Amino acid sequence: MDNTRSFEQAYKATISDSDFRRLAAHIEKSSGIKMPPEKKVMLQSRLKKRLYQLGMNDFKTYCDYVFSPESSGHETLFLLNFISTNKTDFFREPVHYTFLEEEVLPAFSTRKNKLHFWSAGCSSGEEVYSLAILLAEAAMKNLEMDYEVLGTDISTPMLEKAVRAEYREQSITEIPLNLRKRYFLRHKDASKSQVRVGPALRSKVRFRYLNFMDYSYDLPRNFDVIFFRNVLIYFNKEIQEQVLGRIVMHLEAGGYLFIGHSENILNFDLPLEKRGPNVFRKLGD
Ligand SMILES: C[S@@+](CC[C@H](N)C(=O)[O-])C[C@H]1O[C@@H](n2cnc3c(N)ncnc32)[C@H](O)[C@@H]1O
Repeated sequence: MDNTRSFEQAYKATISDSDFRRLAAHIEKSSGIKMPPEKKVMLQSRLKKRLYQLGMNDFKTYCDYVFSPESSGHETLFLLNFISTNKTDFFREPVHYTFLEEEVLPAFSTRKNKLHFWSAGCSSGEEVYSLAILLAEAAMKNLEMDYEVLGTDISTPMLEKAVRAEYREQSITEIPLNLRKRYFLRHKDASKSQVRVGPALRSKVRFRYLNFMDYSYDLPRNFDVIFFRNVLIYFNKEIQEQVLGRIVMHLEAGGYLFIGHSENILNFDLPLEKRGPNVFRKLGD
């Protein structure tokens, strides 16, 4: 079959209710991302590209492949990469960055030298670099201070993008000019309209794969600040509670948890007190 035909076949493919249910149950089990029936059209449209990449014409073949010994779980990674929602931005939900600057960093400055931040579900890294910029600015005023920001995600293409640290120039236009000049480099080829985070800031961050559905997380338990924003909304209540319980274990007593503005954790029994707009402080200090 020529390329155009196989492209057309894959793009015409529709998913049956039973194949959708099989894939939806598998996605929920492996990533926690809920897949109610209303998501069928979304799943179908996102996976068509994957069918085409694999040279498959229909979802039945793809579904059988996902569960086959031949794929041996490997396809699950691709599947999750295709269906996860990775929307993010530099300084997204800016009120959190103001809260950090005005309330959290001054409180830490007298009692901590090295701060450990974690952006849990960091997507392509904009949140990690936004936090690093804020910390770098604070460190210029307080020379004793040091910091490190960890970004984790389940999506390997997003993590690769985060490590490359290259972004469209358009995506940083809202950042004040002095910060853009200090922390971003223009691409040598001006026609590319791309910027890259500078090496000094890149040296203060690191990225790694982490699936929130894992039974436990192989990470230190001394984070001072955890940004866990715009991830919970994709999970059902039971998974939200399990994942939050594990995340909070990695927060130091007196440390801060930030969740997305449209998320709510007030019904969960967690050792946290509310301190700001979807900002919580861990009890015990
Ligand atoms: C909408 S983005 C949020 C990015 C950033 N935190 C923000 O607020 O701008 C959600 C991220 O959660 C990640 N994610 C979804 N399920 C996950 C899981 N089970 N384990 C780890 N990351 C997951 C997705 O890959 C995606 O990059």
